[in-house]
Amino acid sequence: MDREAHGRLDALQRDPYPLYELARRTPGLLHVAELDAWLVARDEDVREVLRRPGDFSSGNALRPDTVPSPAARAVLDGGFGGRPVVVTADGARHRELRAPIVRGLSPARVAAVLPYAAERAAALVDGFVKDGHVELMSAYARRLPGEVVGRLLGLGPEDVPAVVRGGLRAEELLFRPLPEDEQVAAARDMVAKQHLLDACVRDRRARPREDLVTELVASLAPGDGELTLDQRHEIVGHLQNLLIAGHLTTTALIGNAVLHLLRHPRQWELLCAEPDRIPAAVEEAARYDSVLQGFRRITTRRVSLAGTQLPAGAAVFVAFGAANRDGARHARPDEFDITRDPDRHLAFGLGAHSCPGGQLAREQVRLTLEQLTTRLPGLRLAADRAVTMRPTMIHRSPEALHLVW
Ligand code: HEM
Repeated sequence: MDREAHGRLDALQRDPYPLYELARRTPGLLHVAELDAWLVARDEDVREVLRRPGDFSSGNALRPDTVPSPAARAVLDGGFGGRPVVVTADGARHRELRAPIVRGLSPARVAAVLPYAAERAAALVDGFVKDGHVELMSAYARRLPGEVVGRLLGLGPEDVPAVVRGGLRAEELLFRPLPEDEQVAAARDMVAKQHLLDACVRDRRARPREDLVTELVASLAPGDGELTLDQRHEIVGHLQNLLIAGHLTTTALIGNAVLHLLRHPRQWELLCAEPDRIPAAVEEAARYDSVLQGFRRITTRRVSLAGTQLPAGAAVFVAFGAANRDGARHARPDEFDITRDPDRHLAFGLGAHSCPGGQLAREQVRLTLEQLTTRLPGLRLAADRAVTMRPTMIHRSPEALHLVW
């Protein structure tokens, strides 16, 4: 994709809502050149695609927007991964890859990590509570989720910053038009993270522990012999995908929830006065400005959707974020309202690939809002710092969130 096309995609990603509105009003499906796909925008149609995984394959779900340069690719060749992961797999292979993740994110596992999450949330707020101002994304939102998912997997806390950095850099390299030298630097960060995960995987094979990495290794490579290179590629790719799915998304929802609450000060005040409303506020933030705006699917055969005939091999962009603003499903869809009756939104997907980490994410946003409403009820957006959204369809969030109190 050239720079001009990237500019158009950027503008669309920073504010996709007018396009969604047009697509919902247009009979059939709308083909969107910037997305290089048919846009599925109505709640009803999004649900239909998600319920027909046999007709709409996830094989292209993570298709990058940019192709790394030859120099960056040469660096990536020294790393791990490049195998199908849970989010891009279909059918029986998908079920095999998903089962250990669902077990690893069970309600009991999530409950077990919550005391740590609560302790870290409080400690991160301790770090800035006396300052009178903070940039929340860097001081808090980009830190808590990585620490929590790292703990759940069994990574050492010292390894978490490199893992989080590697995840951010993977997103930049595959979805942003970076200059050559930055591409190479991003690829190096990704590869450093992959080697760190590989060392962890081999260590758990040799010395099993009571942690999720050990379980994933046992589940993807049964037995206790030395792992083959192919198995190492597969397990590291799987871990990398799980980590990125786990931290970048939650980071973004923390940012969006705080942003929209503070843009609606009366709702913030209501939340401070009535903290029982926090879970509903989390759901409304997830619906109103969805982090994962959409993922791709590719048709496996000729299909008809919303009256549009699609040939086999057609790319569709399944817009959870558009469905969540569909007036046919949600009353006053463009209003942020934490008092609305929670109706089933699609921010965490639906069906075979629905998010197995939704509860873990919700709990972290809940803990965050509990901390901020009780300790900093006078929180406001800094008046002199305009908020810009990051240009991404997969981790929609503010670039930075300057707050004062
Ligand atoms: C606010 C936070 C989150 C949001 C908005 C979110 C959203 C989603 C959505 C919409 C999907 C479905 C994708 C599809 O249909 O192709 C998904 C899948 C997935 N999510 Fe999440 N997620 C979040 C947090 C998490 C966390 C904390 C974890 C794990 C620690 C996680 C792990 C996964 C995995 C592994 C998948 C793939 C499942 C599959 O393909 O079967 N997510 N997520």
